[in-house]
Amino acid sequence: MIVLGIETSCDETAAAVVDDGRAADARIRANVVLSQIEAHKPYGGVVPEIAARAHVEAADEVVRQALDAAGVGFGDLDAVAATGGPGLIGGVMVGVMTGKAIAFARNLPFVAVNHLEAHALTARLTETDEGDLAFPYLLLLVSGGHCQLLAVEGVGRYRRLGTTIDDALGEAFDKSAKMMGLGYPGGPNLEARARGGDDRRFDLPRPMAGREGCHFSFSGLKTKVRQTIEALPPGNLDDQDIADLCASFQRAAGDVLVDRCGNAIDMFERTCPAGGPLVVAGGVAANAYLRGRLEALARERGIGFAVPPVALCTDNGAMVAWAGIERLRAGPADTLDFAPRPRWPLDPDAEPVAFAGVKA
Ligand code: KG4
Ligand code: ZN
Repeated sequence: MIVLGIETSCDETAAAVVDDGRAADARIRANVVLSQIEAHKPYGGVVPEIAARAHVEAADEVVRQALDAAGVGFGDLDAVAATGGPGLIGGVMVGVMTGKAIAFARNLPFVAVNHLEAHALTARLTETDEGDLAFPYLLLLVSGGHCQLLAVEGVGRYRRLGTTIDDALGEAFDKSAKMMGLGYPGGPNLEARARGGDDRRFDLPRPMAGREGCHFSFSGLKTKVRQTIEALPPGNLDDQDIADLCASFQRAAGDVLVDRCGNAIDMFERTCPAGGPLVVAGGVAANAYLRGRLEALARERGIGFAVPPVALCTDNGAMVAWAGIERLRAGPADTLDFAPRPRWPLDPDAEPVAFAGVKA
């Protein structure tokens, strides 16, 4: 099956061609990601209307580039998948309309993919060590808009064990980076500046650590970063201060993730006695320090560990195409009257958590 995947839910216009007939390490025949970083940089964050317009301008060209790079034409495709939500609705509409138009014109099945499901299944696209990654697994999904722990029991079968009661971790990275003047995109900049920093210099909180369950909270960490900056001599945040604060932030975030995932492993093993690996996905999973901390946790607990290659942690079309393949293997395609969904929780039955509804 050869599937075109389109991703436009945030600030990347992306398209990819994935061919599941090939060995896992050759499935991705093309993966084109056009970042809108330059368009949003002056504003220090993603401006939804600018994002939507940029998607309109770039979508056709990015799709063409992906098909060309894969050496296929529309006639070679078996299906078209596009992110149908959750995300910035103007952008999602562009991707959905592009996907529907191609599907309609070429009489192909259309799959509206849940962006979170695309992140959740990416490790099954890329994990090749001991055959394809099997269900069930414990997933830590950490991105700019989401921070959740889920038991992944199959395609479309997600049980949420924990979520954030306020900010997502990627949001805390981005906002802390902005406070330090590191600019957008914050996460990768903060990681780069943390290298060479003293991760014990600043005493930052570990919100929720030591508590029962596996919910998260990151707004207190972000606030403490602001207070720490304010406590330094005004205008005197030098390069070493920034490096130390970035390193201290990452260590605090790592401690929280390890604590929360430790509890989640217990919860997961109680309900899935056969167990399964810890899988990490989403943009923040690109962070080398956090990948290392979580891999060490899995080793300590004697369970497997999987994380997609860095380029497939942040938003891309390959994960959307792959989720489309997984959905088509499991059931029917969507109809062309699918309406884009700004909110689309993976586990609609999960109990609401204070304030968390807005992020779900
Ligand atoms: O999955 P993603 O590309 O988009 C969403 O679905 O949100 O995740 C983007 C988030 C941003 O908050 C970004 O700062 C963060 O992932 N991120 C990182 C790194 N690369 C991206 N955070 C920490 N370290 C990184 N290397
Ligand atoms: Zn994402």
